[in-house]
Amino acid sequence: MRIAVFASGNGSNFQAIAEAIASKQVDATICFLFCDNPKAYAIDRAKKIGIPYTVFSPKNYDSRVAYETELLEQLEKKEVDLVVLAGYMRIIGPTLLTAYANRILNIHPSLLPCFPGKSSIRDAFEANEKKTGVTVHFIDEGVDTGPIIAQEEVAILSEDTLDSLEAKIHQVEHRLFPQVIQELIENKTIKKSE
Ligand code: GRF
Repeated sequence: MRIAVFASGNGSNFQAIAEAIASKQVDATICFLFCDNPKAYAIDRAKKIGIPYTVFSPKNYDSRVAYETELLEQLEKKEVDLVVLAGYMRIIGPTLLTAYANRILNIHPSLLPCFPGKSSIRDAFEANEKKTGVTVHFIDEGVDTGPIIAQEEVAILSEDTLDSLEAKIHQVEHRLFPQVIQELIENKTIKKSE
């Protein structure tokens, strides 16, 4: 399975997937990391691990269609089967969604549909929830919507701080995301490009 990972920031999930591939837990190749942000730490990780990366910003394109058309060309050139969004902070538009229907995954740090958006961990913590969690889902045109593939709960204990909760959630993400990707590969629900 040929994967492209899209990230905008830290890239810890990208690294977890790369490590799971290196240790043969996931039977895939990361063709390239794509970053929309030249300052993303994910790029440093790609350099260290030795994974090719591509970086360009939508600011340099006239429209989202033009930006995504460039991205699509890169995906097709590298014969990417599956796009994995790992902290990619943009909505995917129709250009990519149509070309990669049911082949774009996202990970989100809450039990969707609860707490969509950018500050989900904090939102759940401040709402005094007893639990939150992690969701892996296919994406559609909405924000943090789309068919759910897997969810795992994380308890919010009275002694938890926002930092400790974040750490617990990221730990779950780094295990769950590679696991779900491998399950999709084994179930062959993702069609390889022809
Ligand atoms: C993760 O919490 C993920 O669920 C969310 O963005 C964060 C990305 O973290 N979509 P990282 O860049 O993989 O470290």
